[in-house]
Amino acid sequence: MSHPKGDLALRTLAMPADTNPHGRIFGGWLLSQMDIAGSMTANKAISSKTVTVAVDGMKFHSPVHVGDVICCYGEVQRIGNTSVAVNVEAWVLRQFSGERFKVTEGLFSYVHIDDEGRPLAIPKS
Ligand SMILES: CC(C)(COP(=O)(O)OP(=O)(O)OC[C@H]1O[C@@H](n2cnc3c(N)ncnc32)[C@H](O)[C@@H]1OP(=O)(O)O)[C@@H](O)C(=O)NCCC(=O)NCCS
Repeated sequence: MSHPKGDLALRTLAMPADTNPHGRIFGGWLLSQMDIAGSMTANKAISSKTVTVAVDGMKFHSPVHVGDVICCYGEVQRIGNTSVAVNVEAWVLRQFSGERFKVTEGLFSYVHIDDEGRPLAIPKS
């Protein structure tokens, strides 16, 4: 049985307002939750603020339903000069059945910025 990689960064409930016109959860909503989770993971890793610069390698393996519990796990892959790469996995806990599985994952990249929004070197700890 596989397990999530990384630390739990966000846990939320898929609500009716998050659906697409076909009644399933909208992929863009899930991507947004993953970006929030990745951003919190990156900001915690460097103790500062970042913006999202790129999202790579995402595929949705299974649908998400209203009432599913979404858990997003973040794991820092690399800290560069100004950027932080975080692998984010989204897992679902299916309502009532207790079934748990990974829905998607992706590599989210964040850039440390100054007050003018320009890339800023990440202080070495
Ligand atoms: C993020 C931003 C400040 C970066 O500015 P930039 O001039 O493009 O940055 P650079 O080319 O100097 O690259 C900065 C870092 O980002 C990394 N980066 C740039 N493009 C990347 C990509 N497509 N994938 C992964 N990393 C990337 C670079 O490798 C570099 O990392 P390093 O310093 O650790 O080596 C600028 O692109 C920006 O403001 N983008 C919009 C951000 C935003 O608003 N996000 C939310 C969208 S709603």
